[in-house]
Amino acid sequence: MEIKVQVRDVSRHPARAIVVNLFEGVKRPGGATGAVDKALGGAISQLIKEGEIKGKLSELTLIHTLGRLSSPRVLVAGLGKQQEFRLDKVRDVTATALRYLRRLGVKTVATVVHGAGVGGLDPQQCAQAIAEGAVMGLYRFTRHKKKNEDERELDELTLVEFDRTKAPALRRGVATGRILADAANRARDMANEPANYLTPAIMAKQAQAAAHEAGLECEVLEREQMEELGMGALLGVAQGSAQPPKMIVLRYRGDRRRKATLGLLGKGVTFDSGGISIKPSAGMQTMKGDMSGGAAVISAMWAIGRLKPRINVTAVVPATENMPSGSATKPGDVLRAMSGKTIEVVNTDAEGRLILADAIAYARQQGLSPILDVATLTGAMIVAIGKAATGCMTNNQELCQKVIAAGEAAGEKFWQFPLYDEYKEHIKSDVADIKNVGKRGQGGAISAALFLADFVGDTPWIHLDMAGTDSAEKDKGAWVKGATGIPTRTLVNLVLALARERKPARPARRRRK
Ligand code: BES
Ligand code: ZN
Ligand code: ZN
Repeated sequence: MEIKVQVRDVSRHPARAIVVNLFEGVKRPGGATGAVDKALGGAISQLIKEGEIKGKLSELTLIHTLGRLSSPRVLVAGLGKQQEFRLDKVRDVTATALRYLRRLGVKTVATVVHGAGVGGLDPQQCAQAIAEGAVMGLYRFTRHKKKNEDERELDELTLVEFDRTKAPALRRGVATGRILADAANRARDMANEPANYLTPAIMAKQAQAAAHEAGLECEVLEREQMEELGMGALLGVAQGSAQPPKMIVLRYRGDRRRKATLGLLGKGVTFDSGGISIKPSAGMQTMKGDMSGGAAVISAMWAIGRLKPRINVTAVVPATENMPSGSATKPGDVLRAMSGKTIEVVNTDAEGRLILADAIAYARQQGLSPILDVATLTGAMIVAIGKAATGCMTNNQELCQKVIAAGEAAGEKFWQFPLYDEYKEHIKSDVADIKNVGKRGQGGAISAALFLADFVGDTPWIHLDMAGTDSAEKDKGAWVKGATGIPTRTLVNLVLALARERKPARPARRRRK
C-alpha cells in the first residue's frame, strides 16, 4: 500500500472512498467534514439529527454519494469524546475504518488528518499515527494459506490537507510512521511464523537480512564460541534440541564520538515445549511466539538503522529451542553461567531467564549500558495484569520513566512491578548460587526479574515482561489477531528520545567568517 500526502479540498478527491470524522455530540460538522457535508447537501447533518450518526469512538457510517462528489463513498468515522481524544485513537480509528473499507473491496482511500483539525493535536504526530494505524491495522499473516479471491488489498491511502503549510510536517510524519509500523509488522511476521519455519538458524538469517537492509553490523555466535565464552546457561537450554543455538548480535553506530552504547536484549526461544518439565499440550502451539522479545529487538534495530539517530545501540538475541530429549537438561541439574555463577535448574520450563543470564553477561562484557531486556518470560505476568499492559521492572527509576513515556507515544502501555528484597529469598538454592524458579503462586514475574537482576549487577537495567502483550485474541484498532509486534515501536521511540537528550560530546566548533 502506498501512502501519500496531498494538498486539496478532500470533497474533490477522486479516491473510491473518502474518510471524514466527527466528535461525539457535535451537531453541525465543521472543517473538512463540514465541507463534505455541504457537498452532500447536508446529508451528514441530517443523519446526526436523526440520531444515526452519534460520533461514538470507531462508529462507522457509510454514505453513497450517487454522483454528488467525485468519490462514490464517504465514510464518517466517530472519534468519541473530544476531551478523551489522543494519538492512540487516531491509530485505532484509522485501522478500523480501513479494515472496513478493505472488506468492501475499496482500493483507494482519501482521509482527512484525524486530530490535526478541531482535535488540536500535533499534525506531524497525527500523520505518523495514521500511517501506523493503516500499516499495522491492515496487516495479515497469509504466507501459508492458499490465495483467497475474497482477500482484497487496499492499494493507496492519501492524507488530504487543505492547509498547504502543514504538508511538510505531514510528509515527515507519514515517513516515520511507515518505518515504525513496518518494523512492528516485521516483528509480527517473525512471531507468527511456525517454529519449523523459524528455527534459531533462520532467525539469525533474518537478522542478517534486516542488518543488510538497514546498514547494521551483524555477528552470529555459534555453539563453539558460546562454549569458549562459557555460556553454560544458554547451552544448557539448547542441549535438548536438534537445532543449534545462535547468539545474534546487531550493532548500530550512530555516534562515533562516543563509546557509550545502549544494549537491547530479547528472548529468542523459537519454540518453548517446556523441556523435560514439559508444558501441557493444550495451547502449546502458542509457544512458537516465545521469541517475540527477540523479534521486537531485531525489528527495532532495523528501524533504528533506517532512522539514523545519533546514538550507539547493540542488540543481543540468544536464540534457541527448549525441547525435551535424551540430551536435555533435567530438573535438578546445575549449570555454570558465563558470569561464573552456578544455577540449579529446578524447572526446565523457566528457560528464558537462563538464556538471558548469559545474554546479560555478554552485554556487560561488551560494555553495554544501560541494558534493556524484553521477554515473554512468565505466565505469572499474565495472571498479574492480563493482556492490557507489559510489566516492567528496573533498578533505575529514571530509565523506567523514559520507557513508559516512549510507550505512551506508541500507544503501548507499561506498568511497573516492585523488586523488593523479600522475593530474593525465593530464588536461593541449596546446591548452587541461585535457582531458576521462585515460590509457586507468589509473584513469579518478580522472582524471574530478580533472577535477571542478579546477573545485571550495578548496570542500569530495565526488564520488560511481555508474556501477555505479545499476542492479541482479536482484531481491535491497530492490533490484529495474532502477534502484536509489541514493544517494537516503544523501543524505537526510546532510542530516538535518548539520542535527542544527549548533548554533543564536544562544544560545536565555531564557524570562521
Ligand atoms: N515462555 C514461558 C512464559 C509464557 C507463558 C509466555 C505463557 C507466554 C504465555 C516461560 O518460559 C515459562 O514457561 N515460564 C514458566 C516459569 C515457571 C516454570 C517458573 C511459567 O511462567 O509457567
Ligand atoms: Zn518456558
Ligand atoms: Zn519461554
